[in-house]
Amino acid sequence: MNLSKRLQAVATLVDIKARVIDVGCDHAYIDIYLTLNNDNKCIATDINKNALEIAKKNIKKYDLENKIETKLTNGLTDIKVKDKDNIVISGMGTFTILEILKTNKLSNTLIISSNNNIDILRREVINLGYYIDSEIFLIDKNKPYIIIKFIKGIKKYNKIDILLGPILKNNIEYKKYIIKKYKNILNNISKKKILLRLKYKLMILGLKLV
Ligand SMILES: C[S@@+](CC[C@H](N)C(=O)[O-])C[C@H]1O[C@@H](n2cnc3c(N)ncnc32)[C@H](O)[C@@H]1O
Repeated sequence: MNLSKRLQAVATLVDIKARVIDVGCDHAYIDIYLTLNNDNKCIATDINKNALEIAKKNIKKYDLENKIETKLTNGLTDIKVKDKDNIVISGMGTFTILEILKTNKLSNTLIISSNNNIDILRREVINLGYYIDSEIFLIDKNKPYIIIKFIKGIKKYNKIDILLGPILKNNIEYKKYIIKKYKNILNNISKKKILLRLKYKLMILGLKLV
């Protein structure tokens, strides 16, 4: 199975042999990969009937129906989550992810890759009683992705940790990417908007100093 670079990175954060609950599985590629390569069992869920039908076909093609259960549901509704499960949520926006996390019983390990608002995701999941165990930054097909593994427990974080990530703030590739992004934004801000330009200049300077 040829898994994208992004999903391979998600898979590296999953605990070997753990039961995985993949919320928003779509094609179920990661579930197939994990059962074949990581000795996981999976519950692959999706809110979309068509997506789940495609997942079922893919699972059947690999003869993995005894290792991957499928469920048509919203988030984690009607799933009996156990503490040791790994909940994987990848490819959705932060607010959808938070809605799912805040309205259900959760496991001790969450592996999340959100499409947007990563700082809000960090802050809110930390407020739910998790700490950040691992963070991965990667570019796949010219798009940036961040994947975070949260584990139940308490750690203290400062504003920079929330904004850039307690691990990613020390990642040179990630810092280079963010500085380039802020420089591009700065170049497109009108010279008349002095305060906004100053804000971005200070952020770039701050990033160079972190
Ligand atoms: C962009 S796909 C990501 C698929 C896969 N997880 C990945 O990372 O490649 C997002 C999937 O999440 C599903 N989804 C969106 N909201 C959901 C929710 N509240 N509960 C379950 N699935 C949801 C969509 O139907 C879609 O199949």
